[in-house]
Amino acid sequence: MTSQQNLSCDELLTTTRCVRRGLDLERAVDPELVKECLRIALQAPNGNNRQNWRWLLLTDPRIRADVAEVYRAAFHARNAAALKRLDELPEGTRSAITGARLLADRLHRVPVLVIPCLELPDGRLPQGNQAGVWGSLLPAAWSYALAARSRGLVTAWTAVHLDREREVADLLGLPPTVRQGALLPTAYPLRTTFRPGPRLPLAEVLHHDGWQDSDRT
Ligand SMILES: Cc1cc2nc3c(=O)[nH]c(=O)nc-3n(C[C@H](O)[C@H](O)[C@H](O)COP(=O)(O)O)c2cc1C
Repeated sequence: MTSQQNLSCDELLTTTRCVRRGLDLERAVDPELVKECLRIALQAPNGNNRQNWRWLLLTDPRIRADVAEVYRAAFHARNAAALKRLDELPEGTRSAITGARLLADRLHRVPVLVIPCLELPDGRLPQGNQAGVWGSLLPAAWSYALAARSRGLVTAWTAVHLDREREVADLLGLPPTVRQGALLPTAYPLRTTFRPGPRLPLAEVLHHDGWQDSDRT
């Protein structure tokens, strides 16, 4: 089942990208391989080891098409203004948004969609800081993405459908106690090598021993 890519740990961590353009939409993905990745994801940390994560694995073409339709509507509602003035955007932003539009347009053709969810006792998210809640799901979701990559698959981290979370929940029959954290389209890639992405240098984002650290003055 496992088709390991033999990436070093650092390569895996630095080159696992959000792949939107280079998805092989013709190649089927075995759901058992996805489950193998999800079993690995279940080793992630989570609050009090309660494991109130829930995972939706969508492979049925009709269900994927329904979810993709909601995703597309959410994407276009959110990005309408930016899509109208693409020419004015900096190259990096323009490329990201046109890639995101392409993914939105073709989402129904991506063979596997994974939606990591949390089951909350009363379905309500806290008013204040939600890091403790989402911290019990998102590390596992990223572990899923890494496990998938190390098996030759790629994913794209997406969340724009959360603007219409209830519509997706209704399509999938989720009870109100279940909240969605992301949507990870999963497919084989058209190419297998990826590079580290553009990121700010550490010095620009690191505060050593307090916010006003001496390194930044
Ligand atoms: C919380 C979160 C939400 C995101 N939502 C979307 C999305 O809805 N659609 C999309 O195409 N990409 C989405 N992305 C992907 C980011 O745009 C992407 O990670 C970023 O452009 C950097 O690309 P890289 O991860 O390949 O370096 C999301 C990423 C994160 C972490």
